[in-house]
Amino acid sequence: MIKIDYAKVNRYWGGVTPSINGPYMMDDFGFPASAGKFRFLAESRIVQRLTCDVKRDGAVLDLGSGIGVWAEYFASRFSLVTAIEGSRVLFESLQKRCATHTNLHSIHSDVMTFKPNDRYDLIFLGGLLMYLNEKDVNALLGKLLQCLEPGGIILCRESTVRGSSLTLKGDYQVVYRSVLNYKNIFAHCGLIVQHLERNEPYVLIEMGSEFVEKWLKIVPTKFQILWIVGHLTYFGLRLMNPWITRIPKAMGIAYPRLENHFFTLQNKTS
Ligand SMILES: C[S@@+](CC[C@H](N)C(=O)[O-])C[C@H]1O[C@@H](n2cnc3c(N)ncnc32)[C@H](O)[C@@H]1O
Repeated sequence: MIKIDYAKVNRYWGGVTPSINGPYMMDDFGFPASAGKFRFLAESRIVQRLTCDVKRDGAVLDLGSGIGVWAEYFASRFSLVTAIEGSRVLFESLQKRCATHTNLHSIHSDVMTFKPNDRYDLIFLGGLLMYLNEKDVNALLGKLLQCLEPGGIILCRESTVRGSSLTLKGDYQVVYRSVLNYKNIFAHCGLIVQHLERNEPYVLIEMGSEFVEKWLKIVPTKFQILWIVGHLTYFGLRLMNPWITRIPKAMGIAYPRLENHFFTLQNKTS
């Protein structure tokens, strides 16, 4: 089994510039900053629906929180939020965000060494498991199960592939697992998938990213006009949203190559 090199993962996230597009891997396609805001707002409507049963005076744990846009969102909806981030530069940005929310606490830590000393009604993993080897995913989920309130949920949002897992081994190390692979991991850890949903806002932006990637491959550098192509691609897709993401699916075309899914998980025994 191919393994992720954590030193490289830490180097990558330690060297990023804090921005709303960065954690979504949307920085290099010439998209406007509003693309990140659009995706966040569209996703937050899904998250709102998936977490509507979590009690408002509940406690939330956000692991791998990046600059903290989600932690801030949860702080506006729930009583207490704890956000854990491993990258120093993203943590500093997260801390600034926390300054205006007295119910949002941030901790600079690796999620594997973080020791929860509370119980949580909602645990959010927004693009974290894909940076962990399977053994550590199992260990982390096992640890999280111990601090999940009865009836509480773990909400995962992970990038996925259709076939077998794909591991990128360059400076950006990541493992894209299939939905089935995740289901098996969750079942092995004693979690049931209460709800599974494709992340359509992600798929829309991913269609644009993969289109721009192809453009950059085939067009000579001096003709690439990335800023213009990125903006046109993004606004074109927004015009054709939501039906554009359904077309490849309806035609049985595996595009875009990467998808993303929300998984709502519950303790099998709760
Ligand atoms: C794709 S970004 C997602 C950020 C945020 N959840 C969001 O949705 O905007 C992944 C984040 O996980 C953090 N991360 C990755 N591995 C980690 C680890 N072992 N411990 C703590 N943070 C980690 C990265 O530094 C990065 O901020």
